[in-house]
Amino acid sequence: MRSKNTKTVVVFGATGSIGRVITGKLLAEGFDVIAVARDQHKLSKLRELFSVRRPTMVGRSIDVTRRSDVDYLQDLIDQKGVQIWAVVYAVGNFPAGGFTREISTPISGVHGKELEELFALYPVGFQNVAQRMLLVMEEGGHIVALSSAMSRFANTPGEPWSRWHLSHHAAAFAALDRIISGYGRARTAATEKKVLVHRIAPAAVRTHFYDGAPPELLPPSGFTTPEAVAREVLSALRGTEAVDTVVMPEQAGDR
Ligand SMILES: NC(=O)c1ccc[n+]([C@@H]2O[C@H](COP(=O)([O-])OP(=O)(O)OC[C@H]3O[C@@H](n4cnc5c(N)ncnc54)[C@H](OP(=O)(O)O)[C@@H]3O)[C@@H](O)[C@H]2O)c1
Repeated sequence: MRSKNTKTVVVFGATGSIGRVITGKLLAEGFDVIAVARDQHKLSKLRELFSVRRPTMVGRSIDVTRRSDVDYLQDLIDQKGVQIWAVVYAVGNFPAGGFTREISTPISGVHGKELEELFALYPVGFQNVAQRMLLVMEEGGHIVALSSAMSRFANTPGEPWSRWHLSHHAAAFAALDRIISGYGRARTAATEKKVLVHRIAPAAVRTHFYDGAPPELLPPSGFTTPEAVAREVLSALRGTEAVDTVVMPEQAGDR
């Protein structure tokens, strides 16, 4: 963990399709980045991607669903005397080719364990991270959470794509959205520290998650890109107001 003169951002989910683009943009803008995920091999590969300024690795797997892991990270940051200026929550579960399976299973057909795992990842994981990181954050910092536009759209019965809006992912994102907005209320730890809590909610992002999906099941509004999401994150970090935005495809019909 580096100097105290540079602003430090912790990116949770830094090795993901979106998290790694955000990490690259932050490094290019001169921020120190602490990259967090579970798989150390993927984190080492991420470091290799960048030649001059590189993200810092924590040195062990951090699972956001385990409070003891997030406590460990907070203690480590505290011991190093680093003040965190911003936290980006880009944790997710968007495996290659996963979309077809997701859309074929309505929430009524999902096993409770799967639902439990997604709730652990989104609302509970975010809660673990936000609570602990606020203790080591600078006043006037930022927490940026990636959510999903899917929890904002109405379901249109009969359209294959609309099943996604009633999936277990959508339910977990809706719960995450409630937790994020809770941090914007008066007299939370975040508001006392004047930390802005941003919600960036992308529509479908062109990632390997959609690989192999039948075209008729793809989102009719098209895709946005990890770069467009990363631009919104950087823009939120430059601002002085909490951002709550949906990131839609730049060109409708980009499939
Ligand atoms: N892709 C899309 O179409 C889309 C659309 C709308 C919104 N989003 C938002 O963007 C987020 C990221 O999406 P993505 O496509 O980049 O996902 P992704 O490629 O699956 O990446 C997920 C990242 O989270 C990490 N992670 C997963 N479980 C974790 C855990 N328990 N503890 C710590 N880290 C964990 C992964 O690394 P490890 O597995 O090594 O831990 C990886 O770095 C989503 O969750 C969602 O909020 C995505």
